[in-house]
Amino acid sequence: MGKVGVKLAVGCAVAACVVASVMVGRRVRRKRAWRRVVRVLEELEEGCATPVGRLRQVVDAMAVEMHAGLVSEGGSKLKMLLTFVHNLPSGSEKGTYYALDLGGTYFRILRVQLGGQRSAVIGQDVDRRPIPQHLLTGTSEELFDFIASSLKDFVEREENVSERIPSERRELGFTFSFPVKQTSSSSGILIKWTKGFVIEDMVGRDVSECLQQAISKKGLDMRVNVLINDTVGTLAVGHYHDEDTVAAVIIGTGTNACYLERADAIIKCQRLLTMPGDLVVNMEWGNFWSSHLPRTSYDNDLDADSPNPYDQGFEKMISGMYLGDIVRRVILRMSEELDVFGLVSSKLHVPFILRTPLMAAMHEDDTPDFREVAKILRDTLEFSEIPLNVRKLVVRVCDVVTCRAARLAAAGIVGILKKIGRDGSGGIASGKNECASRSEMRRTVVAVEGGLYTNYTLFREYLNEAMTQILGEEIAPNVIIKVMEDGSGIGAALLAASHSTSSVDTVQIP
Ligand code: BGC
Repeated sequence: MGKVGVKLAVGCAVAACVVASVMVGRRVRRKRAWRRVVRVLEELEEGCATPVGRLRQVVDAMAVEMHAGLVSEGGSKLKMLLTFVHNLPSGSEKGTYYALDLGGTYFRILRVQLGGQRSAVIGQDVDRRPIPQHLLTGTSEELFDFIASSLKDFVEREENVSERIPSERRELGFTFSFPVKQTSSSSGILIKWTKGFVIEDMVGRDVSECLQQAISKKGLDMRVNVLINDTVGTLAVGHYHDEDTVAAVIIGTGTNACYLERADAIIKCQRLLTMPGDLVVNMEWGNFWSSHLPRTSYDNDLDADSPNPYDQGFEKMISGMYLGDIVRRVILRMSEELDVFGLVSSKLHVPFILRTPLMAAMHEDDTPDFREVAKILRDTLEFSEIPLNVRKLVVRVCDVVTCRAARLAAAGIVGILKKIGRDGSGGIASGKNECASRSEMRRTVVAVEGGLYTNYTLFREYLNEAMTQILGEEIAPNVIIKVMEDGSGIGAALLAASHSTSSVDTVQIP
C-alpha cells in the first residue's frame, strides 16, 4: 500500500471512530433523557397517588366540611346551598312542561309531556344549540336575549296551536348549573361563574328574573316556576324512579353533588325553614378543599393560569373541563426533556387544546401499536412520528390523571354517605344523624350524570372500584350508583310540574 493508501485508510478509521463515538454519545444522551422522562412519570405517579388510606382521609374531610358549611355561612369552602326543594316529583305529574338547561357551552330546550304515572314521560322534543363564543364573555342581557329568542322559536315550532288552551300559561323549569344562592325555589342570585364563563354583570343578579324579563320582552307567555342546579334535576329524576335515591352527582365538564339533608341539620338557615323533613342541599363540591388531596405542580400551574385561581380546587382535579389539560401539561414537561416528541410543538403550549374526550380516546386505545394515540398526538398537537414506547408513556400519563380523578370522586361520594349515616360507619358526630350500623345498612342509591362517568369506561371502573375499597366488601353492595339519563333536562320539567300552580300531588320528602 502506498503512502496515499495508508493516509486514506487512517482517515477512514478516524472518521469511523468519530461517527461511532458521536452515535454512542447520542445514544447515551438519549438514554439519560429517557431516564429523566421516566422520572417525570414517576414523580407524577407519586404526586397523584390515592391509596385507600388517603381516600378515607378525604372522605372524613368531606363529611366534616359539609357539617361546617351547614353550621354557618362561609364556615367552609363548601357552600352547602339551600335549594328550597322539599317536594320531589311523586310520579303523578301530568301535562306539558318546558325545561331550559344551561350549564356549559351548549344549552338545551325541552318540551316534556308527563303522563301522570311513575316513569311515564310520554313524549319529549329537544333542541340543543351552542352558545356563540362571544356571548360567553358578553353581557347578561345579550345572553338571555339569545336564549329567549331560541325558546320562542322552539315553542312556535313544536307547539300544536289547536291543542293549546290560551288561558293556560306555559311553565318552565330552569336548570342553571352554576353556584346560585337561592332565595326561593324559583329565584336565586349567581354567586360566581365556573367552567370558563365570564359574564361580569350577571354576578349578584337574580338569574330567573333575567330570564323571565327576556322571555316577556319576546312576548312569550311562559313562567319560570322553578330554578334548579343540574344536580337537583338529577336527584329529582333519580328519586322519581327509585325512592332510595339520596344523592346525585354530576361528573361532566364540571362536577358537583347534592343530597337530601334533614332540615334541622341545616343550622345556618333555621329561620327560613318552616317545614320539618328533608331538604335538598346543593353542595357545590367543586370548591371542596383539603390538605389530604394529592396535588401536583401541574395542578398548581393550571390553577394559577385559570380565570378563577384558588377556586374550584376539587373540580380542577376531577372534571372533564380540566383532565385533558393536566395531561397536556405533563406531556409538555416531558417533551422538554426528550426530543422524541419532535421539536417541542408550539401547539403543546396552547391551553385546553387537548380536550378530555381526546385524552380518554388515547387512554382507551386498545390497538396493539397504539395507533389512535399516535393519530391524536399528530392531529391535535402536530407531533410527527411517535415511537411506541412514547405512545405507551402518554397512555400511562392519561391513566394516572384519570385514576386520581375517579378515586377522588368516589371519596367525595362516600363522604356524603358518611355525613348522612349511610356508609355503614355510623356517620359523623353531628347530633341526631341516623346511625346505621353495619348490619342494618339500608339500600342507598346515588344518581350520577355527566359524560366523564357515562362515556369513559375506565373512569367509571376506577370510581366503582374505589367505592368498594373505601366502603369494604360488606357495605359496598348496599350502595348503588345509578346512571341517570338527562336529569338536568327531564328533572327540571318534573320539578316544574311538581311546583306548578295547577299541580298534582307532590311528595314531601319524609
Ligand atoms: C358548577 C355547579 C354544577 C357543576 C356541574 C360546576 O362548575 O359550579 O353548579 O352543578 O359544575 O355542571
